[in-house]
Amino acid sequence: ATPTPQAYRASLLHFHADPAFSEQAHAWHEDGLLIIADGKVQAAGDYAQLHASLPPGSVVEDHRGKLILPGFIDTHVHFPQTDMIASPAPGLLPWLETYTFPTERQFADPAHARDVADFFLDELLRCGTTTAMVYCTVHPASVDAFFAASEARQLRMVAGKVMMDRNCPEFLRDTAEGGARDTEDLIQRWHKRGRALYAITPRFAPTSTPAQLALAGELARAYPDTYLQTHVAENEDECQWVKSLFPNARSYLDVYDHYGMLRPRAMYGHCIWLSERDRERMAETQSAAAVCPSSNLFLGSGLFDFERADAARVPLSLATDVGGGTSFSMLQTMNEAYKVARMKGSYLPAMRMFYLATLGAARGMQLEGTIGNFAAGAEADFIVLDPKATPLLARRTARCNSLEELLFALALLGDDRAVAVTFAAGRRVHQRAA
Ligand code: GUN
Ligand code: ZN
Repeated sequence: ATPTPQAYRASLLHFHADPAFSEQAHAWHEDGLLIIADGKVQAAGDYAQLHASLPPGSVVEDHRGKLILPGFIDTHVHFPQTDMIASPAPGLLPWLETYTFPTERQFADPAHARDVADFFLDELLRCGTTTAMVYCTVHPASVDAFFAASEARQLRMVAGKVMMDRNCPEFLRDTAEGGARDTEDLIQRWHKRGRALYAITPRFAPTSTPAQLALAGELARAYPDTYLQTHVAENEDECQWVKSLFPNARSYLDVYDHYGMLRPRAMYGHCIWLSERDRERMAETQSAAAVCPSSNLFLGSGLFDFERADAARVPLSLATDVGGGTSFSMLQTMNEAYKVARMKGSYLPAMRMFYLATLGAARGMQLEGTIGNFAAGAEADFIVLDPKATPLLARRTARCNSLEELLFALALLGDDRAVAVTFAAGRRVHQRAA
C-alpha cells in the first residue's frame, strides 16, 4: 500500500549549491510545504503549488511563523566527552591529560557508555542536529553502545572506535594489530546497518605508531566506502610534537597522506596550521575539513582561515568538537565561526553558515541526495526553527528586513531554545516544551 504522506507547512529553506561560489544557491519558500512519505522527502516547495497534490483527507501540520530546514550536521564531536564539557585547562595537551583521558577511561563499562550515548543523542536532537561524525573511545563496546542508542532513534550517524597505541595512559591503549582487528569487526557489525556508517578513527598522529597509521590506511583502502576521521594541525605545540615524532614528513597533514589516509569520506578536525600545499592536497583528494570554532577559541588553538580554505576549494563543514567545544548547538557554532572569520579579516554570511551546517557537510561526507537538503528521495531529517523562541529573538527578528538578517539573528542569538521540533527519518524525535 502507498504510505499516507505527512505534510508540514512553514517557511522552507534549503540549499542545492554553495552560496560562496554560486549566485542562486538556496531555495526559499516563504509559505512552503514539505511532504514526507515513508521517511523520505516526496516534495518541497510552495504551499500554493503543492497542497493540491496531497490525497484528500491529508492532515497538514501547521508551523507558519517558523522555518523548516534540513537537520544540522555536526562533522566532529566526541560523545564520551559529554560529561567533561566546560573543563578548563591551559591548552589542548594539558586538557587531554587532565580531563579527557580519565573521562574516557570510564567507557570500559558498557552500561556507562550506553547511558552517556542516550543523553548525548537526545542533546543533539534538542539542538536540531540529526547527523554527526562521532568519536567513541578506544573500547569497542563504546561503539556498540553508541550505535545501539542511535539505531533506537533511527538516526543517520557516523562513528568509530578510537585507535591509539602510544603516548597515552596504559588504560586507554590498544595495539596496532588489536586496534585494526577491532576496527574491522566493528565495520562488519555496524557499517551500513540501518542508518549507521563506520569511521576508521585513529585519534591523531601523536597517539599512533607508524605501524598503527599504516594499518589504518590499509583499512581505508580495503573498505573504501567507510569514513575516516582524525585531528590535524589543531594547536602549535601539537604540531611541534608531530614534527619531532615524524621528522621526515613534509607537514602534519603529510603524515596522514603518507599512510594513504587522504581520500573522499576522510574528515579532518581543525585544519588550522596548514600550508598551501596541505590545502591543495585536501582539495585534490576530496578530504574534508571539520571547522571547530568554539573549541578552537576555548582551548586557544588558533583561528581557522576560511579565505585560504575557500581559495583552495577545500571541502568545508562546521563542527562542535564537544568536549573541546563549549556548545552542542550548531547555531552557537555559527556564532563563533562568524567571529573567527572576522578576526582573520574575512566575512561569513549567515546563508553560507547554514549551508555549511547542512548541504556543505553532506557534500563533504559524500552524502548529497541522502541528507543535507530536501531533494526528492532524501531522508526526512528536518527541524522547525522558531524565530520568536526567546523574548530577545522575538524582538530582534521582528525587525529583520531580509532573509539574511533573519538567519544571522538566529545564528548569533539562537541555541537549543530556537529548535521547536526535530524529525529524523520522518519521525518526531524532539519537541520543545511549550
Ligand atoms: N586531539 C586529540 N584528541 C583530541 C580530543 O579529544 N579533542 C581535541 N579537541 N583535540 C584532540
Ligand atoms: Zn576532537
